[in-house]
Amino acid sequence: MVISSSIERRVWFITGSSKGLGRALAKTVLEQGDTVVLTARNPELIQDLAASFPEHTLAVQLDVTKPEEIQQAVKQAITKFGRIDVLVNNAGYGILGAIEEVSNEGVRRQFETNFFGVLEVLRNVLPYMREQRSGHIVNISSVGGFVGYAGTGIYNGTKFAIEGISEALAQEVTPLGIKITIVEPGAFRTEFVTGSLVIADNEIQDYETVIGEMRQGAQDILDNKLEFQEPGDPKKAALAIIKAVNSNNPPLRLVLGEDAISAINAKLESVKTELDAWKEVSVNTAFDELVGSST
Ligand SMILES: NC(=O)c1ccc[n+]([C@@H]2O[C@H](COP(=O)([O-])OP(=O)(O)OC[C@H]3O[C@@H](n4cnc5c(N)ncnc54)[C@H](OP(=O)(O)O)[C@@H]3O)[C@@H](O)[C@H]2O)c1
Repeated sequence: MVISSSIERRVWFITGSSKGLGRALAKTVLEQGDTVVLTARNPELIQDLAASFPEHTLAVQLDVTKPEEIQQAVKQAITKFGRIDVLVNNAGYGILGAIEEVSNEGVRRQFETNFFGVLEVLRNVLPYMREQRSGHIVNISSVGGFVGYAGTGIYNGTKFAIEGISEALAQEVTPLGIKITIVEPGAFRTEFVTGSLVIADNEIQDYETVIGEMRQGAQDILDNKLEFQEPGDPKKAALAIIKAVNSNNPPLRLVLGEDAISAINAKLESVKTELDAWKEVSVNTAFDELVGSST
């Protein structure tokens, strides 16, 4: 039975609501009066939130690597609330290690969650949003979805892939009334480093000088020898995401944190510098009669 289809009380569907950014967002959205489909691999971790807002939540089990659970969770959401207004693809984890150090299986596992999980969830939700001719899909990427870093290349690959499909999807669904926002957080104080970071165990000595310090830092945090104070406040990230969703003109990219802004600015500048420096070579690759015709 559909118990709420009111446009004013929007229905959010958030993956990875158990902790970190997903939980902070779910809690803030509920406090502001909207409805949330809380999803988690272990539903026990969302029972407290569901119990605090019994009328406006649905708690469902969802591992984004399991297509049958995705279908089931979306179906349950539609059965209960009749619509999904905002989908937040938040669930994800990181893998630390040089490109050569991460096993094939580790790479595939990382893409299963961070890329294929997102793809599968949004492809299950899109038919309903197309039918509604409205909706907003928020894909949680990272500053690492715009800038690649030694030691997190596989994670970067998953997040760059998210950015690619999100840009294309925005062009495909804007005419259908559906909005897309890619969120690019810098470092936020969640359980990401302590609970969602896998360190590749196939260490190759040659990479020690480039990523050794990063690996040791992560290990020290896991061993409680070092406390990493990420500057980002998850509650404020939640408020920023809600502000973007509430906007009449939401951004395609929402960058969160000064650290992310400066890394992205540096990348934009370096891309522009290199583009200009190699322009002559670039444009001279057209057939002779066409060189310069598109500038
Ligand atoms: N924190 C940062 O500095 C930062 C920066 C940039 C981007 N991000 C991105 O922000 C998102 C949230 O991360 P976080 O910082 O909030 O980390 P977190 O506190 O560790 O939370 C990660 C969430 O993802 C869920 N998850 C992981 N694999 C899943 C799967 N297969 N199916 C369903 N849920 C799964 C976890 O659920 P369980 O409880 O079941 O483990 C948890 O709810 C991620 O996409 C991450 O890449 C974070």
